Amino acid sequence: MNDAIHVDGVGFGYNETRVLDGLTLHIPGGATTAVVGANGSGKSTLLGLLAGTLFPQQGSIDAPRADGVAFAVQHSQVSDALPITVAETVMMGRWRALGLWRRPSREDRAIVDYWITELGLDDLRRRRLGTLSGGQRQRTLLAQAFAQESPVVLLDEPTVGLDADSRDRVARQIVRLAASGRTIVAATHDVGLAGRFDFCVLLGAGSVLATGSPEAIFTEPNLAAALSLG
Ligand SMILES: Nc1ncnc2c1ncn2[C@@H]1O[C@H](COP(=O)(O)OP(=O)(O)O)[C@@H](O)[C@H]1O
Ligand SMILES: [Mg+2]
Repeated sequence: MNDAIHVDGVGFGYNETRVLDGLTLHIPGGATTAVVGANGSGKSTLLGLLAGTLFPQQGSIDAPRADGVAFAVQHSQVSDALPITVAETVMMGRWRALGLWRRPSREDRAIVDYWITELGLDDLRRRRLGTLSGGQRQRTLLAQAFAQESPVVLLDEPTVGLDADSRDRVARQIVRLAASGRTIVAATHDVGLAGRFDFCVLLGAGSVLATGSPEAIFTEPNLAAALSLG
């Protein structure tokens, strides 16, 4: 645990669209890092690169992936049609620990139950994903990511669709995970969330515009740039 992530001169694009260009960044281990930036600035792309689901076209990324990376994607990217329940979705977070054939142990079940309760999902355990509201589905995906107990946890817009109570709860859970040595990186427009993080990265024009504490980053001009939502 406690390993930092190094991004060194990374370039990435989709076909014609250049998204990141010469991106260099040091993400502290065992801390919370918020990636902020306008819509389309490449936040989700950066998380995919950190997760190893996308590969840099230039440069390199040194991330501690050997013990697993938990990645909660934006819930708009998850199919409604999957015929699985909330409890099954969260248990999927244990699959890496389980291997292909082993049945969930008492410990796996305890971890899943813990996160279901923490995210206020007890009454929804048997509900199918497709029948949930956006916020309920988001909390299910967060429970799945947290249940992985990975040293690196990547969260794409973790508080979108959540009410104020849930946002506050999720912020506290994230801070607690970092205190236990995990490295958390969240792409977020939620200034309330980012304000509780250790470190912020402002993305724009394919590269890093600024890094520093939330107080240093959330200046008026930076906010105007970061929050020009599409
Ligand atoms: N799979 C894809 N294929 C083509 N273009 C993409 C794809 N994913 C993202 N893009 C484009 O890359 C840019 C960055 O997108 P993204 O990383 O999702 O930004 P953000 O998460 O900050 O909104 C946008 O212009 C987006 O349209
Ligand atoms: Mg995104």
